[in-house]
Amino acid sequence: MDEKKVMLSGIQPSGDLHLGNYLGAIRNWGARAEEFDCYYFMADMHTITVRQEPAALRRRTLEQLAQYIACGLDPEKNTLFIQSHVHQHAELGWVLNCYTMFGELSRMTQFKDKAAKHAENINGGLFTYPALMAADILLYQPDFVPVGDDQKQHVELTRDVAQRFNGIYGDVFKVPEPYIPKTGARIMSLNAPDTKMSKSIPEGCVFLMEKPEDIQRKFKRAITDSDTENCVRFDPAGKPGVANLMAIYSAVTGKTYDEIQAEFAGMGYGKFKPAVGDAVVEALRPIREEAARIMADKAYLESVYRAGAEKASYVAEKTLRKVYKKIGFVAR
Ligand code: TRP
Repeated sequence: MDEKKVMLSGIQPSGDLHLGNYLGAIRNWGARAEEFDCYYFMADMHTITVRQEPAALRRRTLEQLAQYIACGLDPEKNTLFIQSHVHQHAELGWVLNCYTMFGELSRMTQFKDKAAKHAENINGGLFTYPALMAADILLYQPDFVPVGDDQKQHVELTRDVAQRFNGIYGDVFKVPEPYIPKTGARIMSLNAPDTKMSKSIPEGCVFLMEKPEDIQRKFKRAITDSDTENCVRFDPAGKPGVANLMAIYSAVTGKTYDEIQAEFAGMGYGKFKPAVGDAVVEALRPIREEAARIMADKAYLESVYRAGAEKASYVAEKTLRKVYKKIGFVAR
């Protein structure tokens, strides 16, 4: 039998997607569905560990879903859903809270960071969040969980909790492996080329839904170099700003660095920067238009997340039922 391996990932709807997310990761996700049975969910339950504005959370959850679809996650080939629509997450989350140790949770670096950042709201959910994340994962018995560096520790904890539970009750959970995705382009901030592009520096960050003229303005203001060479040449150590723009241009056009150097030979940054801006605008245009179209088509969006939740909860319920039985809850 050639059943596909299962992959699952949660996405916090906490901000707008940007070019770094897209070129570095999301644009490769569509192709994964050929090899894996993929689940992606909007982790709205996780976001409330930090205070959220209700209308903004609702809007961002839907926008994020629309943007992922527009980036190539086909709802026919992937299971896309909203975490809070599948009640089994909360239920298994509670159970796993009781199998996750205070000491383990205390060691989570993300908790320590967030507690320091939100000293006025160090709530219980912020602390036990990794137990909910373990539930998110273990419900679907995935083989792989693709994660960035900041989430590795949580996946390790998930494995520990799964093994602990299996040790007591027999094989209930598949113990998942972290999946280190093939890295796409590593895109840096346009005005601080030594730091990764991030929404925390909005002037150096190009958002997927941004207007073309705003994108152009950001590229025209992009930092190039302090040298006076004014020449498009790939030299990441000496000319990090130019190298970053070349990486972006290469990622959206498919051209090699040699081809780019030849294309802009003798032209200087004044020609190069707007050309990169144009190429990015054109690359993002279909995504922006498709995401806007999906956002305007509420019936379609609703049909996607309903079908996704239905499929997800069918799978999740099987695991939850097994867990309840093993721990001694009376069957309904
Ligand atoms: N904690 C993840 C983040 O902050 C989001 C997330 C929630 C997640 N549940 C998950 C990721 C399950 C992978 C698997 O990015």
